[in-house]
Amino acid sequence: MDSTAFQPANLAGIQLKNRILRSATHEGMADENGFPLATLKKLYIRLAKGGAGAIITGYSGIQPDGKSPLFRMTMIDRDDVIPFYKDITDAVHEFNTPVIMQIAHAGRQTRTKITGLPTYAPSAVRDKFYSEDMPRELDETKINSLINHFVAAIVRAHKSGFDAVQLHGAHGYMLSQFLSSHSNLRTDAWGGTTRKKFRIIKEIVKQAKDILPDFPILIKISAHDSQKNGIRVKEAVEIAKLIEESGCSGIEVSCGVFEDGLYTMRGKKLPADAAMEYTFKYKTLPGFVKTIAKPVLNLMIKQPKPLLKFNLDAAIQIKKAVSIPVIIVGGINNTDDIHQIIDKEKIDFVSMSRPFIIQPDIVNKFIQGQQDRSKCIMCNYCSIIGEEKPLKCYYGKLPMSD
Ligand SMILES: Cc1cc2nc3c(=O)[nH]c(=O)nc-3n(C[C@H](O)[C@H](O)[C@H](O)COP(=O)(O)O)c2cc1C
Repeated sequence: MDSTAFQPANLAGIQLKNRILRSATHEGMADENGFPLATLKKLYIRLAKGGAGAIITGYSGIQPDGKSPLFRMTMIDRDDVIPFYKDITDAVHEFNTPVIMQIAHAGRQTRTKITGLPTYAPSAVRDKFYSEDMPRELDETKINSLINHFVAAIVRAHKSGFDAVQLHGAHGYMLSQFLSSHSNLRTDAWGGTTRKKFRIIKEIVKQAKDILPDFPILIKISAHDSQKNGIRVKEAVEIAKLIEESGCSGIEVSCGVFEDGLYTMRGKKLPADAAMEYTFKYKTLPGFVKTIAKPVLNLMIKQPKPLLKFNLDAAIQIKKAVSIPVIIVGGINNTDDIHQIIDKEKIDFVSMSRPFIIQPDIVNKFIQGQQDRSKCIMCNYCSIIGEEKPLKCYYGKLPMSD
C-alpha cells in the first residue's frame, strides 16, 4: 500500500506512527476529584499498542465551574494531578505513541447541579439543552481569570509529559461559545467581529507561548452548526487564518454544538431509548411520559446528513487557507475514505472517535489489511450513556439495569 496515511508523519514537531489519530473522546475514567484512574491508563495503552498515530485525550477540565456534566471528567486544574498524568504519559510513550491533552471549559454547556457553581458564558444566552441554568455573562475580570486558568492548564499538561495540548474550541463549549455569534452577543473587545470573538483564544495562545514557546498548541473547532447565527464554513475559514496567525500548530475540523442534537457524531437514528434512561433531561420523567416522548423526540430531532465524511468540504476549504496541519474528524470509518482524504484531498491527518471505542486496535487492523471498515454501527449509545457511565461500546443495546 503506497498511501501516505499509514506512513510515519510529523505533526507540529511531534513524530507520529501514521496519519490516523484517536480524536478526543470523553472517557469518564476519573475519580470524584478528576484524578485519572488506572482504567484510563489501560485504555491509552490499548490504543497505543493498537496502532493509533497519536492519542488525543478526552476533554480535561481547566476550572471547577467549567466541569463537564458528563460522568467523571478528568481535571487539570491543580498541580497535585500532574504525577498521575505523568505516570500515564510515560506508559504511553513506551509504545512510541504521542499523547495530546485536550483541555476545556464547558461554559454554559454544564449544570450548576454538577459543578455546585454558577454557570458562565460569553453572553447570558440560555442553552436549549442545558436550559435549567441561565448562564451569567463573563465580565472582564472573569475573562482574564479564564485565560489564566487555560494557561495554567497548558503548563500543567507540559509538566505532565503530554506532547502537546489541544484547546477544545468546538462543539459549543466555552471557546466555541466565544467564536459563535449565536452564543456571543458581546459588543466589547470580545465580540462583534470574527477577530474580536477569536481574541480569547489569541490571548491564551500568546500567554502560554510566552512561558512555553516550543510546546505545541493545537485547536479543535466546529466549522459549521445548525444554529441561527451559528458558525458557517465561510467564517470558519477566517477563524482558521486567525488560528494560524496566533501561533497554534494545527487545526482539527469538527462541527456542531450540543443544541444541534447529534450533529457532531451522526447516526441513522436518535437513540431515544438511551436518552430517556440516561440523560438528566428525561430520565426522571414518569414511564408513560417517556413512552410518548420517545417517538416525539425522534420526530423533533432530525438526523443530519450526510452520515460519513461530514466535515470534508469544511476541511478542504480550511486546508486551502492555511499552511499549518489540518486534521479532519467526523464519520471517517473506512480505508478507502482515509486514503482519499490524505492522498487525493491532501488533508494532513484524519482522526476518529467511535471506531476506536469499539476497536482500540483498529489502525493495526487497517494497516495489516485484516479489516477495511470500522465495526461501529453509529448507534451513539456511547455518547448518550456517557452522562452516567464510563466510556464503553454498547453496540446498539441498552445496558441491563443496575
Ligand atoms: C463518547 C464520545 C465522547 C466524545 N468526547 C469528546 C471530547 O471529549 N472532546 C471532543 O472534542 N470531542 C468529543 N467527541 C466527539 C468526537 O471527538 C468526534 O468529533 C465525533 O464523534 C465524530 O467523529 P467519529 O465519527 O469518528 O465518531 C466525543 C464523541 C463520542 C462518541
